Amino acid sequence: MCGIVGCIGKKQACPIVLDGLRALEYRGYDSAGVAVIDSNNSAQLFKQVGGVENVARLINSSKKPVKSTVAIGHTRWATHGQPSIENAHPQTNQSKTIFVVHNGIIENYSEIREKLIGQGYKFISETDTEVIPQLIDYHLKKAKSFEQAFIKTLGELRGAYAIVALTTEEPDKLFAARLSSPLVIGVADEELIVASDPAAILAHTKQVVYIKDYEMVVVDSKSYKIHNYLKDTTVKRGTEELDFDSEEFSKAGYPTYMLKEIFEAPATIKSATLGRIRLDPPLVKLGGLERVSSQLKFIDRLVIVGCGTSFYAGLVGEYLIEEIAKIPVEVQLASEFKYRDEPFSRSTALLAISQSGETADTIAALKKVEDYGILRLGVVNNVGSTIARMTDAGVYCHAGPERAVASTKAFISQVVVLAEIALYLSNGTSKLYKPLLSELELLPGKAAELLKQTETIKRIALKYKDDRDFLFIGRHYLYPAALEGALKLKEVAYTHAEGYAAGEMKHGPLAMIDPSFPTLALATDSPQLEKTYSNIQEIKARNGRVVAIATEGNKHIESVADDVIYMPQTAEQFQPILAATVMQLFAYYIAEARGVNIDQPRNLAKSVTVE
Ligand code: M6R
Repeated sequence: MCGIVGCIGKKQACPIVLDGLRALEYRGYDSAGVAVIDSNNSAQLFKQVGGVENVARLINSSKKPVKSTVAIGHTRWATHGQPSIENAHPQTNQSKTIFVVHNGIIENYSEIREKLIGQGYKFISETDTEVIPQLIDYHLKKAKSFEQAFIKTLGELRGAYAIVALTTEEPDKLFAARLSSPLVIGVADEELIVASDPAAILAHTKQVVYIKDYEMVVVDSKSYKIHNYLKDTTVKRGTEELDFDSEEFSKAGYPTYMLKEIFEAPATIKSATLGRIRLDPPLVKLGGLERVSSQLKFIDRLVIVGCGTSFYAGLVGEYLIEEIAKIPVEVQLASEFKYRDEPFSRSTALLAISQSGETADTIAALKKVEDYGILRLGVVNNVGSTIARMTDAGVYCHAGPERAVASTKAFISQVVVLAEIALYLSNGTSKLYKPLLSELELLPGKAAELLKQTETIKRIALKYKDDRDFLFIGRHYLYPAALEGALKLKEVAYTHAEGYAAGEMKHGPLAMIDPSFPTLALATDSPQLEKTYSNIQEIKARNGRVVAIATEGNKHIESVADDVIYMPQTAEQFQPILAATVMQLFAYYIAEARGVNIDQPRNLAKSVTVE
């Protein structure tokens, strides 16, 4: 949530910050702002409600030309206070000499605010962030330097933050710090860029330094200095090279990131299996799990945690790991996991699933078991992210950057990786080992075949564009797939949708069915298909309309469902992968027909870094 960028160097900083904010806009987009300090030490602040372009326009129309080699900027997803100019970042002190952009939440902000009000400070925003520049201002009165006042302030903040500060006191420096919220520095030839996400840096350099918890960094136009403010030690850390291309961050000719990412399904499956599976002799090799392989032999229970789409992928993983590796699995919402007081034995492992690797609830779940001494594993897409770094071992999804708020290719890669983990844990003992490996090899081709039906899926989706409610049903592997399909329709098309286990219909949901409440039934070939037919018949008997997703060649389904979308035959374990693509396209075209902002649905943000 929220994106932050700061730039200092030889070039004009404002265009670099604005470009960085555009690249981060997928993280938050309800208001934005930029602060600069020019060579006369005069500060300018630009803030607007809405997207980054609104701020860019404001800057372009400024009477005083904006010329500066140092700037900070922010694109916001509101937590404290609604989207407004006052609440947008940068937040400042009263004399407007200190400017701060912030991601995360300051939990004790009202306490600090009260204390500062008692000292005569006035606040103009409803944000938690405003306490940061004001508190720095307060400490600056006694501190020897801005750096010292900054560190003193950090010592008083509780919560999660990535902060970048700019001040007229020392306009040739940026001051930044992190605690439980990502922060990275890009080191280019002519400038240094501080950002919450490498996406803001990639156009300028691939050389980056990741900042860790309790570290603050002072950046000037040529160098950076890291200090651990908890231990009061200097940290020496060199740069590392980012391993993705700026091309991966573009829409590549597609109208939206979501459509581009849906169409990346075949490549996504391929790269999640690349170098990991072999057919002759059949073998799954997961380098990321090798160093804990001996510990994994003693695991007799696996708890999977995740949020949203990652949680639903975890539910598919539960079926896969139990069926293939015969290890009992329990999947929990990360946001609930942390409240439970359940017993853990040392032979339990925790597996966190996350596309971004920065989801606050999932991080909190991992933190909760920190002292239990249990193995903590990760299935993460974002290389080098917080979750990737805090787990003992794990498997990367390698899906490449996902920019649309709605997760598409991440779900697909997560399920592929979970299948690989299940096969790996089975140690070749499962009778499914060889057949599933062969099927994994064929899956990218099948996903490509499926995408050829996009026009048919669009035509059928448009028939349902005006429906306000939708039910998604499926059995066994298709049950979590139904939950994920419903989530896609909710978040991109704003259609009320519920995912249900088809077997639950008679236990309640059937009461909702009438001609205005259609159902998407996942009815692909599986041992459960006959039972799903019965559910469809029951819905039809109540004048409900049914769109079925079925396996190619199933002609019978046309006599029971109103509309049928076919997908290639595949193992039932992999049907959620192909069905996900169908449901993503279905939701996409309904959203497009409704004219909503598909990549940036209202009220949401890509990476949920607050609990
Ligand atoms: O980055 P994560 O996978 O941890 O994110 C979890 C959820 O916030 C995410 O899947 C969310 O539900 C998506 N918007 C779903 O499309």
